[in-house]
Amino acid sequence: MHKNKRIYIAGSGGMVGSSIRRELESRGCRSLQTPASSELDLIDQRAVRAFFSEKKPEIVILAAAKVGGILANDTHRAEFLYNNLMIEANVIHEAQGAGVEKLIFLGSSCIYPRNAVQPITEEALLTGVLESTNEPYAIAKIAGVKLCESYFRQYGANFYSVMPTNLYGRNDNFDLDTSHVIPALIRKFHTAKIENRANVTVWGTGKPLREFLYVDDLANAIAFLVENVDARDIYGDGVSHVNIGVGKDIEIGELASLIAQIVGFDGHIVFDTSKPDGTPRKLLDTSRMSRMGWTHTTSLAEGLRKTYDWFLSANPVS
Ligand SMILES: NC(=O)c1ccc[n+]([C@@H]2O[C@H](COP(=O)([O-])OP(=O)(O)OC[C@H]3O[C@@H](n4cnc5c(N)ncnc54)[C@H](OP(=O)(O)O)[C@@H]3O)[C@@H](O)[C@H]2O)c1
Repeated sequence: MHKNKRIYIAGSGGMVGSSIRRELESRGCRSLQTPASSELDLIDQRAVRAFFSEKKPEIVILAAAKVGGILANDTHRAEFLYNNLMIEANVIHEAQGAGVEKLIFLGSSCIYPRNAVQPITEEALLTGVLESTNEPYAIAKIAGVKLCESYFRQYGANFYSVMPTNLYGRNDNFDLDTSHVIPALIRKFHTAKIENRANVTVWGTGKPLREFLYVDDLANAIAFLVENVDARDIYGDGVSHVNIGVGKDIEIGELASLIAQIVGFDGHIVFDTSKPDGTPRKLLDTSRMSRMGWTHTTSLAEGLRKTYDWFLSANPVS
């Protein structure tokens, strides 16, 4: 590992960034740069320029973003577009100006068209219409991918992007108003268990298929890429980014049963079919990452157990 390099993790306070920080620390990296958003607002171009000029990071992992579930994405559309565009433009541009040796930008699988052929290959980018609920977020992420690619093509910058599938794990957001499906279900089943409720309602039919990656596996993948893969490997393969996932999906209903079992809720799961299902299936083709030599190691059941343990330790009385 690049133990002596100055590595800047943008978004190190978030679920993904904190996991990357733990992974790099465990590999002996001693020069990690991890300012909180209160110390460095990445929307502020001058502040970002001053940071790069003063701290001179050699490697940058861009895991800072305005992130949220469907409701937050749909109701704060301007913020999702503006904040993410500004964060990416500022960090990627200043990294180039400061001569950063390698930058990895984290996108999201929502960059792919709503009706992309499954499993979704990297080549599906910009081949169709996006899901409307998170279109502003997706557009900003696509801009980040294209920034990295364009800085590589124009300046030879060693910058590229990764597209993780849905993530979950320690430090996830368990607020029911803004959370993703796994933390939402953990909280719902946990609350129902301690309040002795007979039923838990899950939105939709339970039939949609989704893929989930444990966040520490993603952090392991990022460390692998930092060490082994350069921009020319990605672009030379004819794509602008690489998918990271588990290559396997699960029905939401089955996921709900698994979480209920792990949490210890033994009541009924009721599906509220008046609520939308969203896209029927979303599975990434992860064969490119496998060919490069990386695969995930944490099973869904094991990852969910670890996540619930963390939730309990963070919420001892709830
Ligand atoms: N969660 C998923 O399922 C998932 C899936 C695929 C890809 N990703 C990608 O992974 C990355 C990280 O996601 P996450 O789940 O870790 O999100 P998160 O927990 O919300 O973390 C986001 C981080 O970005 C920071 N940030 C936001 N605005 C900032 C600003 N203006 N200046 C400085 N820092 C700012 C946040 O700091 P504060 O908390 O202090 O504001 C936080 O540390 C994102 O790019 C996301 O698109 C996530």
